[in-house]
Amino acid sequence: MYNEIKLDKIDITSKPPNVEPARQYYFMAKCREKVRMFEQENGRRPTACVTTFGCQMNARDSEKLSGILKEVGYREVASEEADFVIFNTCTVRDNANQRVYGRLGELKGRKRRNRQMKIALCGCMMQESSVIEKIRTSYSFVDLIFGTHNIYKFAELLYNTFESEGMITDIWEDTDRIVEDLPMERKYPFKSGINIMFGCNNFCSYCIVPYVRGRERSREPEDIFREIRGLVADGVVEIMLLGQNVNSYGRNLKYPITFAELLREVEKIDGLRRIRFMTSHPKDLSDDLIRVMKESDKICRHLHLPLQSGSTGILQRMNRRYTKEQYVDLALKIRREIPDIALTTDIIVGFPGETKADLEETIDVVRTVKFDNAFTFIYSKRTGTPAAAMEDQVSEEQVREGFERLLKVVQDTAREQAARYEGSVGEALIEEVNRDDGALVTGRLSNNMIVHVPGDASLVGKLVQVSLDECRGFYYMGTVL
Ligand code: 5AD
Ligand code: SF4
Repeated sequence: MYNEIKLDKIDITSKPPNVEPARQYYFMAKCREKVRMFEQENGRRPTACVTTFGCQMNARDSEKLSGILKEVGYREVASEEADFVIFNTCTVRDNANQRVYGRLGELKGRKRRNRQMKIALCGCMMQESSVIEKIRTSYSFVDLIFGTHNIYKFAELLYNTFESEGMITDIWEDTDRIVEDLPMERKYPFKSGINIMFGCNNFCSYCIVPYVRGRERSREPEDIFREIRGLVADGVVEIMLLGQNVNSYGRNLKYPITFAELLREVEKIDGLRRIRFMTSHPKDLSDDLIRVMKESDKICRHLHLPLQSGSTGILQRMNRRYTKEQYVDLALKIRREIPDIALTTDIIVGFPGETKADLEETIDVVRTVKFDNAFTFIYSKRTGTPAAAMEDQVSEEQVREGFERLLKVVQDTAREQAARYEGSVGEALIEEVNRDDGALVTGRLSNNMIVHVPGDASLVGKLVQVSLDECRGFYYMGTVL
């Protein structure tokens, strides 16, 4: 485990080792020396701000960046008025990219005022060559750019920014390696995400993820168990196993194991109370997984199962490899086997060639499956994906109309579903003091619903029984029993 390493014992006058993670420990020690010099010159520790865009995977990656920054001596702050600012970017839809450019523009003036400021960019967006070109020409004040495959090299790259002037760019096309045992900082002391795999092999025709996150690679089960045991020893009660398609976990390991088998083992870890996972691809969801969920005391009653479209024709063009009927059958089977489960989904509106009739099919699935929540997205054309080259892109007006129509059905269904627990009792993990009302704390039920209950900070991190007194749309007001 990382916390056994003593950075100050590393000989930083010798050459850097060639093996990982020892090489990164060496550079962390070198960075620590630079940070101490900064402190002596400025009479204060340097500050760092990590800003995350996008999904849970990025959030977890940011914890790795924060872990290293903290270890070398930075003080993490929430404001981008810091000495080191890093954006961990997302490129799944174009609006994510635009937000990064907007925020980057704001940093320019700050850097002019603080000559010591360093700006770094990493994450999915950086794996696109057009983005790199744009940054080189329009945002040349950026100091460091790296991608998704070499994030483990962050300490080394950070050190390079101290040693050289100008923009450092280090982007890899792909990788087959996974470096274990680097430090990580957790946002919450009581819950944590855990990567079980990286990348995606599915190539859904609209999606850029396989191009920017590379091929699927699973972590060794033992490394996962070791990480979870370490987290539990450190006070974590809830974990979320992360992967683009957790249902294909373990297939490419030397000794293959299935996701259901992995879950069975994770369940046995003493002290761990709750297990979540994200995301499941319907085509790979096995009966064995449904059984494991059904029999488990720890796996939460929530399954996120992206539908994307309810039209078999569109699904085929999306390369999703299931039909409308197969999806509905699977969802209803899960509802039958695990009646108290919450099913949530992702839906894309406006995929090339989508007609009004196709959208009606999607709405039909929403009504049949009764999703507890659905994230609806307007199709965003991603350069390099097969869908971007499809001819019949849908007009903006049709997309808007369809989107609003779908959203209404989704919200009505979700509200109806939420109300079904009114008056019952559930277990909530209290996550924080309510941001608007300090007399309340906010918790999450096993089915991922939010409940606000009277209480104070002493409840944060605790699992408590609550009565769900009143459903207010998508959340509950309750009381601790
Ligand atoms: N346009 C719109 N939504 C997309 N998603 C992925 N790619 C695109 C795209 N090009 C959505 C999918 C996926 C979620 C994470 O983002 O619904 O499940
Ligand atoms: Fe993208 Fe499809 Fe892979 Fe999900 S499964 S990351 S939507 S290619």
